[in-house]
Amino acid sequence: MTQRARLLAANWKMNGSRADIARWLADFQARPPACEAVVFPPAVYIAQVAAALAGAAAQAGAQDVCEFTAGAWTGEVSAEMLVDVGARWVIIGHSERRASFGHTDPIVAGKVVRALAAGLRPIVCVGETREQREAGLTQRVIAEQLDAVLQRCTPAQLSAGAIAYEPVWAIGTGLSATPQQAQEVHAAIRARLAARDGAAAQATRLLYGGSVKPGNAGELFSQPDIDGGLVGGASLVAADFLAICAAGMQ
Ligand code: 13P
Repeated sequence: MTQRARLLAANWKMNGSRADIARWLADFQARPPACEAVVFPPAVYIAQVAAALAGAAAQAGAQDVCEFTAGAWTGEVSAEMLVDVGARWVIIGHSERRASFGHTDPIVAGKVVRALAAGLRPIVCVGETREQREAGLTQRVIAEQLDAVLQRCTPAQLSAGAIAYEPVWAIGTGLSATPQQAQEVHAAIRARLAARDGAAAQATRLLYGGSVKPGNAGELFSQPDIDGGLVGGASLVAADFLAICAAGMQ
């Protein structure tokens, strides 16, 4: 265990209904985890999750945020609105948003700035594709994604949230990065933060995401620079997410 508190995040992506979520929350509340946990439902269900978790150790978050404030931005949801319905965290730059919705590095950086201004804690996602890894470009890709955000805010500001390393080839594939592969990238991320602000680098939680399951979570979380996880598929079943949280506390 490091001095950084464990953080486990459940990214439900575009899954669930009010009834599904009520059942999940009942299971979760019956055996609340010992670690800090954040649940990221689809935006329309944030208020339901936030209300149920009020007073609990867990909090609700959003899967994305608009980089603009109020106004003529049809279809978008502002940081202030997310805070208003109870979100305390937001995922920014998830690879699915980067790949399918045109979220470039500058857009991601703009979203981080807006989230921080509204008091939302950002989880900034970075990660390479399979082709980039095979071409030996992993470190460069991660550095570019991180530097784009660090052009607009400081490591100290980012330390209020977290950075998630999610190799694109490991997301939803069942093919997790090995603990060693993940640790190597996490250490590089921390070193890059430390080059700007050593104290902030030590304080920042670095999460691993990509096919985290109850069976592989313990080994991943035992790595010195892996401070928790951003869990997709396995977080849809409360018992599995709780087992992953428990693995993080061993
Ligand atoms: P999986 O856990 O389903 O691979 O998803 C990871 C992820 O994208 C979390 O944000």
